[in-house]
Order: sequence, then structure tokens, then C-alpha cells
Amino acid sequence: MIKLRVPATTANMGPGFDVIGLALDLYNTFTFALDDGDCDKESMIYEAAKVVFDKAGASMEKFSYRVDADIPIARGLGSSATCIVGGMVGANELLGVPFTQDEILKMASDFEGHPDNVAPALLGGCVISLPAGDGVVYRKINNIDNFATIAAFPDFDLSTAKARAALPKSLSYADTVSNIGHMGFLIHGLETADTEALFFGLEDKIHEPYRSKLIAGYDVMKTLEEVHKGRVLISGAGPTLLFVTEKSADLEAIKRDWEKISESLDAAWDIRILHITTTGVEILENA
Ligand code: HSE
Repeated sequence: MIKLRVPATTANMGPGFDVIGLALDLYNTFTFALDDGDCDKESMIYEAAKVVFDKAGASMEKFSYRVDADIPIARGLGSSATCIVGGMVGANELLGVPFTQDEILKMASDFEGHPDNVAPALLGGCVISLPAGDGVVYRKINNIDNFATIAAFPDFDLSTAKARAALPKSLSYADTVSNIGHMGFLIHGLETADTEALFFGLEDKIHEPYRSKLIAGYDVMKTLEEVHKGRVLISGAGPTLLFVTEKSADLEAIKRDWEKISESLDAAWDIRILHITTTGVEILENA
């Protein structure tokens, strides 16, 4: 029996569409066993595990799993990535670890179609990742202690498929150059604790302008930037919003102010301080 937990992740971080993500301390916990137990064979968890079993040439006749989920589904916090990473790492452990972490990352990235949630879910921390050649090239960004995050989850969902369908088929040079430039400042700001560069770097022109229209209340929630130093981002494909602020900020006061702002909206918004976790998937029991 293998019990493991996988962290929530926020992807994109403004300009880093499909290439940068961050692990947060909210978890889905999975238990896997080689037995006749009952489980949903149509699920993403089962399908992800099957990729590993098939690649290892192993039978899934005896395989079952259970999930204990704390991460809301289809909210932009990497719930699908936890199912993919959980299913693949669980299967790999049950089979005696035939695949390396890099091979699991490649399989997970192929499964999801982009690596920016599965990479930090697997590795923890803030990860830049890009499929290249036969694998996924990635680096963890160190020195990410200088900022803090507060998430606002609305009581409505938004599928990644719908949020991706809202994106334009082509981009202008001006918007592309803007994102390249801001991404440079973002990485510099993260690595050097230069919060001025970090906040400047969180500007996006290639997905947020299109997706914000799908998130009722976005403009109102964005006004938090007028009251507190920091940036409101769409977390992954949304609709969760993430406020990135300085670590030294009064997070409880920001949370209260964001709650007050959300009270004028039709939807209910659950505002939570989420801490960055530098640990990715964790094996809790291996018996
Ligand atoms: N990078 C992805 C997107 C994350 O924004 O569509 C959500 O799966």
C-alpha cells in the first residue's frame, strides 16, 4: 500500500503561460494498493496510473486507489495535476520504481499537455519547465522566500478546456514582446528578492485579458491592488485569483480587506492565505 500527498499548484504566475508554476500548502492525499478493491476506472487518476503500468508492461488486474481531496476541482489550483502526478507516482511506487522522476515528469506533462502544474506538484517550490527534445527541461527557482500568496476561490468553476478555448489563435508582436520582457523581470525578481521587479514582472498580455472576462467579479477583486502592495493574478486557468504580495505584509489584514471587497459580488469568495511549499509529492506510507 502506498499513501502519498500532492500539493496544489498555481500556474502561469502572470506572463509565464504554460511554463512556470508554484506549489502551495493545500493537498490531495491518495492511497494506492495492488488488490481487488473497488475504484473508478474512468477517472484521471486511473488513466494516469495506467500510463505507468502500460509502459512498465504490468497488469492492472489488481489495482485500487482512494482519494481524500482538499483542493477544489476546476478552480485553477492544479487539482487535475495532483490526480496525474498522484496516479503516476503511486503506480511507479507500487511497481518498485521502474521510472525516474524525470521520466514521470515527461509522462505527466504529456498527459496534461503542459508541464507548469505537474512540475511543481512533483518537485515542489517554484519551477520553470518546458518540453524539449524527448523530455521536459526544468529548473527550480531558489530564494523564493520574499513573497507570500493569498488565494480567492469563487463558488463557481471554470474548466481549463473552456479557459483555453477563450485564448486567441495568434498574438501580436507587441503582446509577445511584453510577455517576454515581463517574464525576465519576474524571474529576476524571484531570484534576487527584488520585489519591485517581481511585481512589475507579474504583468500578462496573453491569457489574463481573455480569461478575466470569464470570471464574474474579476474587476472588483482586482481593486485590492489599489489598497495593498502586490498583484492580483489569475491562478492557472482560473477562476481562482491569487494575490502576490511581500512576505512582510500584514496577510490577515489583506485577507480581511479582500473579503470585504468580495461582499459586493454575487458569488461567494473563500479567501485563504496559502503558503509556498518547497516539497512536492510526498510518500506518507509505504507498507
Ligand atoms: N497553463 C495552464 C493554462 C494551466 O493556463 O491553461 C492550467 O491547466
